[in-house]
Amino acid sequence: MTVTDIHPRPLYELRGVTKTYGQGAGQIHAVRELDLTIDEGELVAIAGPSGSGKTTLLQLLGALDRPTNGQVLFEGRDLGKLADGELTKLRAATIGFVFQQFNLIPTLNARQNVEVALAPQGLPGDVRRSKAEHLLASVGLERRGDHLPSMLSGGEQQRVAIARAMANEPRVLLADEPTGNLDSVTGQEIMALLRSLSLERQQTIVVVTHNQEIAATAGRVVRMQDGAIVDGEPTVAEAGR
Ligand SMILES: Nc1ncnc2c1ncn2[C@@H]1O[C@H](COP(=O)(O)OP(=O)(O)O)[C@@H](O)[C@H]1O
Ligand SMILES: [Mg+2]
Repeated sequence: MTVTDIHPRPLYELRGVTKTYGQGAGQIHAVRELDLTIDEGELVAIAGPSGSGKTTLLQLLGALDRPTNGQVLFEGRDLGKLADGELTKLRAATIGFVFQQFNLIPTLNARQNVEVALAPQGLPGDVRRSKAEHLLASVGLERRGDHLPSMLSGGEQQRVAIARAMANEPRVLLADEPTGNLDSVTGQEIMALLRSLSLERQQTIVVVTHNQEIAATAGRVVRMQDGAIVDGEPTVAEAGR
């Protein structure tokens, strides 16, 4: 591309995406004929009750799985057509993941947990260290780098996990119930952090949550039920932003 597009572009375009688990009578349609566009820089919440297909959808967005039918286009590329090795490369280079369980390495301090994610970049040790410190500062943890995960609160551990997920400057951050292990105040603080990353860096972020109040603070809420979108219209967050 030689032309720079100043308007938001679709990062994802999902067309008729279906994901079916199992065979015959035991088949489960986890995601059904779903159409969805996510623009660059959007903060989108995927909301819905347990079992509605949110995690399945996130795994499709994260190139962790392929649809049974339909297309998942990421920057115009059909993920379903990429080989396993290409999907692995794409995930490592362009997608950051955040989970409900923070999944930090317990024997490494906060800074080292972020450094692990920087390792593939092959930077000299001191550069890697200062980059990790910078990433921790960007999530409000400038003074916690030397702390082991066990010495951090749940909210702080999730911040480390977000810093780690940002290490490869991903095109998109995908978070599955990132506030699920946190009390409601801390959960809202994590959402505030994600909103600031979205606003200040135009970071595209997709947050899966079963929590309506958490979802309402995103710029856009996509509601799922039984594998389908029941309300895909952009909604103005009740809490404002
Ligand atoms: N690997 C799997 N094998 C079989 N069924 C699955 C698998 N993963 C999810 N499901 C089923 O697909 C449906 C959607 O699950 P999921 O995407 O995890 O929903 P949510 O994240 O909204 O709770 C559920 O009925 C679940 O039991
Ligand atoms: Mg889930």
